[in-house]
Amino acid sequence: MKFVPAGVVPFVALLLLQRRPVAGRALLVSGPGCPGHGLCRSNVQEQTRRQVALLNATAQDLFSLYLKCQGEPFSSETDKLCNPGSVFFPAFRVNRTSERKEVMVAMYKLFAFLNASLGNITRDQEELNPTAKELLDRLHNTTKTTRGLISNLTCLLCKNYNVFQVDVSYGESSKGKSTFKKKQQGCQVLRKYVQVIAQAARVLLPHLSPP
Ligand SMILES: *[C@@H]1O[C@H](CO)[C@@H](O)[C@H](O)[C@H]1NC(C)=O
Ligand SMILES: *[C@@H]1O[C@H](CO)[C@@H](O)[C@H](O)[C@H]1NC(C)=O
Ligand SMILES: *[C@@H]1O[C@H](CO)[C@@H](O)[C@H](O)[C@H]1NC(C)=O
Ligand SMILES: *[C@@H]1O[C@H](CO)[C@@H](O)[C@H](O)[C@H]1NC(C)=O
Ligand SMILES: *[C@@H]1O[C@H](CO)[C@@H](O)[C@H](O)[C@H]1NC(C)=O
Ligand SMILES: *[C@@H]1O[C@H](CO)[C@@H](O)[C@H](O)[C@H]1NC(C)=O
Repeated sequence: MKFVPAGVVPFVALLLLQRRPVAGRALLVSGPGCPGHGLCRSNVQEQTRRQVALLNATAQDLFSLYLKCQGEPFSSETDKLCNPGSVFFPAFRVNRTSERKEVMVAMYKLFAFLNASLGNITRDQEELNPTAKELLDRLHNTTKTTRGLISNLTCLLCKNYNVFQVDVSYGESSKGKSTFKKKQQGCQVLRKYVQVIAQAARVLLPHLSPP
C-alpha cells in the first residue's frame, strides 16, 4: 500500500497490483483512477453499509443453494468435502478496534478476491448446472452487489485516505480442473465466505453507522 499525504498529489492513478499466490505472477492493472471527490456519491457510506449487510444476509442461502445443486457426494459429506481449510482465502484479521483505514483496505482485499472467485464459480456452474436458474441468478446478483461495493470502497479509500494501491491476492483459477474439483473449490470458497462476511459485517457496520 502507498500513502500519499492529502493535497500533495491531487490526482493519482488507481493501481491495483494483483498477485496470484499460486501462479506467482504479478499483474499491474490501472483502473479508472482515483475519482475526484465529486465523483464519490454523497451517500457512498450508506451504500457501502447496505451492500455489506445485503451480502451478509444472502450468503448462507447462496451457499445452501449451491450445495443443493452439486448433488452427491457434496450433500452428504459437506463437512469433509467443503472444509475451507485447504483453499486460499484472504486473511481477514481486522476487528472492531482496528483503524478504519485498515478495515477498509481489508474489505477491499476481501471483495476483490470474492469478485474473482464468483467469476470462476459462475462460469463453472453455467457449464455444469446450466438449468439451475435460481443459483445462477443468485450468483449474478451477488457478483453485481460485490462490484458495486468494490467501486464504493475504491471511492472511500481514495477520498478519505488517499489509498490508490492495494495488494490483492487471488486464489487459483478453477479453469481446466475436473468437475469434482470445480464443485469442491466453489463449495469451499462459499462456505468460508459465509463465515468471513459475517465477521466483516460485524467489524465494518459500526464504522459506517450514521452518526
Ligand atoms: C484487533 O486488531 C488489531 C490490528 O488491527 C490487533 O492489534 C489487535 O490485537 C486485535 N484485537 C483483538 C481483540 O483481536
Ligand atoms: C471482477 O472479476 C472479473 C473477472 O470475473 C474482472 O474482469 C473484473 O475486472 C473484476 N472487477 C473488479 C471491480 O475487480
Ligand atoms: C478465476 O480466478 C482467477 C484467480 O483468482 C482470476 O484471475 C480469474 O479472473 C477468474 N476467472 C473469472 C472468469 O472470473
Ligand atoms: C436478484 O436481483 C433482482 C433485482 O435486484 C431481484 O429482483 C431478484 O429477486 C434477485 N434474485 C435473487 C435470487 O436474489
Ligand atoms: C456504489 O454503489 C451503488 C449501488 O450499487 C452504485 O450505484 C454506485 O455506482 C457505486 N459506486 C459509487 C462510486 O458510488
Ligand atoms: C449477518 O448475517 C447473519 C446470518 O443471517 C446474522 O445472524 C447476523 O446478525 C448478520 N450480521 C450483521 C452484523 O448484520
